Order: sequence, then C-alpha cells, then structure tokens
Amino acid sequence: MTDLRETLAQELARARERTLLLTEHDEPELLRQHSPLMSPLVWDLAHVGQQEDLWLLRGGDARCTGVLPPDVESLYDAFTHPRAARVRLPLLPPVEARAYCAEVRGRVLDRLDRSGPDDDPFDVAMVVSHEQQHDETMLQTLQLRAGPPLLGTGSPLPAGRPGLAGTTVLVPGGPFRLGVDGTEEPFSLDNERPAHVVDVPAFRIGRVPVTNAEYAAFVADGGYTDPRWWSARGWQHRCDAGLTAPEFWGPEGTRTRFGLVEELPADEPVQHVTFFEAEAYAAWAGGRLPTEEEWEKAAVWDAATGGRRRFPWGSADPTPELANLGGSALRPAPVGAYPAGASACGVEQLMGDVWEWTSSDFRPWPGFTPMLYADYSAPFFGGDHKVLRGSSWAVGASVTRPSFRNWDHPVRRQVFSGIRLAFDA
Ligand SMILES: [Fe+2]
Repeated sequence: MTDLRETLAQELARARERTLLLTEHDEPELLRQHSPLMSPLVWDLAHVGQQEDLWLLRGGDARCTGVLPPDVESLYDAFTHPRAARVRLPLLPPVEARAYCAEVRGRVLDRLDRSGPDDDPFDVAMVVSHEQQHDETMLQTLQLRAGPPLLGTGSPLPAGRPGLAGTTVLVPGGPFRLGVDGTEEPFSLDNERPAHVVDVPAFRIGRVPVTNAEYAAFVADGGYTDPRWWSARGWQHRCDAGLTAPEFWGPEGTRTRFGLVEELPADEPVQHVTFFEAEAYAAWAGGRLPTEEEWEKAAVWDAATGGRRRFPWGSADPTPELANLGGSALRPAPVGAYPAGASACGVEQLMGDVWEWTSSDFRPWPGFTPMLYADYSAPFFGGDHKVLRGSSWAVGASVTRPSFRNWDHPVRRQVFSGIRLAFDA
C-alpha cells in the first residue's frame, strides 16, 4: 500500500471509530425515530456501509449486486426514501447493520492493499468524507433525542478571551481567487471547483461568531415580535413555526444539550438558528450576513502574498490548538478560544465551532463539472438552499476545508448552525 493509501486507510478507520461510538446504544435507541427530520440511527449506520460498498467495491455501478441483496440494499438509497419514512422500512437490525459495515470494510481494505500507485484515491477520500458527514448527522439526531443523556458532557475546550464579541475586522477590496482546483486540493468535492477569480469589494466581518449573550439581547429586545427585522418569508416562518428563541433554549437562561439541561454559556457562539433567524439578528444588529465569496476571502486571502492560505492559519492541518473539530467536545468553544487559528485578516473561529449561514444561494461555480458521485451537488443547485460555511465542532478534522460548501433549507436549525455578521465598509 502506498503512503497515501495508508493514510486513507487510517482515515477510514477513524471515521468508523466515530460511527461505532455514536451507534453503540441500545437497540431501541437506534431503531427509534427521534425526529421526522432525521433517520433512525440504524439507517445511517447501514447507509454508511452501503455507500462504501457502492463506491469502493462497485465503482458506483448500482446495477452490480453488492454485499446485500438488491431489495435490502435499496432501503438505504437516500433519494428513494425520505428521512421521515425510513423508520417504517424493514431495516437491518443493529447487529446485522454492524456486521454488514464490517464485511464491506474488510473487502475495501483488501482492495486498497491491491491498489497501485496510479489508482486515483479520490473515491476513498469521498467515502471518508461521506461517513464523517453522517457522523455529524447522527449527532444532530442525538441532540433532537428526548430522554436522559447518552453522551456525557464532552471533552474540555480552551478558555475564551473577553472583549471580542461584537468586534469586526476590515477585509480590503479587490480580486480574490475563490474555490480550489484538484491539483491543490485533490480531495475537494465538485461544488468547490474550479477556482476562479472574483472581485470582492471591501467589507467588515465579525472577528468571532455571534455569541449566546449577543443573541439573548436580540430576544430580550423583542426581536421575535418585531417584523421589521425579518424578511417577509422569514417572518411568515417565524409565525407559522412559533419561533421565540434558538432551538433547545429553555426558560431562565438554560439550554438542553444532548439531554443535559445547563446554563446557557454567554460567550459561546449561538447555535441552532435558522437562516431566517440569522438574517433577522443581523438586521437588528445593523449588519447583514456575509456572502460566500466574502466568507472565503476573509478565511484564506493573504494580503502579504495576494494568494490563498490552505487554512485560515496557514498550511498546517487542523489541531486542537487551532480549531474545535472532531465532535468530541459536543459544543462550540467560547469566542476567543483559538487566537492561533486566526486568518491573515485577523478573523477567528472560521473553522469548527458552528456552521455559519451566508446570504448566498447554493449554485455551481462557473465551469462546474460533476464528480463521480454526480448527484452529490447538482440536484440541489437552484433549490431552496442557503450555503453554510466553515464547519461545526461536529465535523471531522480531516474532511474540512475553507472551500467546503454546506447547504440547507433556510428553515432548518437542527444543524449546528450559527451567525457571523458582515457590514459594508
Ligand atoms: Fe449519505
């Protein structure tokens, strides 16, 4: 096995370790539907195996029979079965789902052993990214789950620095190379490519994400009862859904986090807000949400070179000193916790902590070409989707990039989604 294959095998193992940790609960917890927005956990588990089977053992050709009989395998097709309906399917029980995933993994590792230096490992990296993405999805499910805590309080995080909430930095105007090419980021997904130059006028951006304390001031100021801060569609949704605060906020300054009721930490980035709430908060605060182009420029543009950094802090891979990633913290870190993770422009906590809503619709970059999983991005372009950037605390450190684009419906808030403000300069 080549060094790269060895690394990818380790990444497969790391993703699987997370998946198994998140699905080690009793059978009823795995079979239950915790929310109509989410699949039963046992579906995610077997679907992870099914996608690995499809892409790495059959080259994506669904006409070839895989490890499961076709009628069973079809239960795990995400396009055929909407999330709300999956609980009614005759799904594999947890023991069989685990055995299936293990069988597929064994065959994949055999294939990797036999691969040569000329084989393109993109498919393996894509499968690693897919499994890590489902690990985050399963954390959303576990956050929606009612009942006593299953996951503990989370691993320790660095302390924040006071005085940063509400401060902004200037990003100078001028051309910027947006997106990446396969040569610089071989495992970037289709919607991140190709790189192209855009002109981004000067703007200011929040040095750190909006905190719970800042958001609580919006709530206390009647933000949810005053339509002038909301778009017409956003206000309609606020009324229809009866929104009065971020999801999981409780009475008297509390919140529920993976079943634990605790005091809302004032200096932690607010999370579990819809795009509409983010937009309304921004209007109340006298600002707006950044565009995707602005977000990415603030993250990677380096005035000293005129080019891009690989990560906000430079070229080094993420570490626990640079960003809160990987999921073990079970929460965002307080603002100011990662001074070493600042971008060249001085913007902090862009990677990790919370996904940040942008004002941009999900659309292809000019020259977009679908990757081997052709339905990964293309069916979602032009739909009712807003782009989120950065990555949350629940994202795997090895699958995140500043060019990574996440998208969701503007009404969704089970996502670990937060807010960073922008202002015209
Ligand atoms: Fe999937």
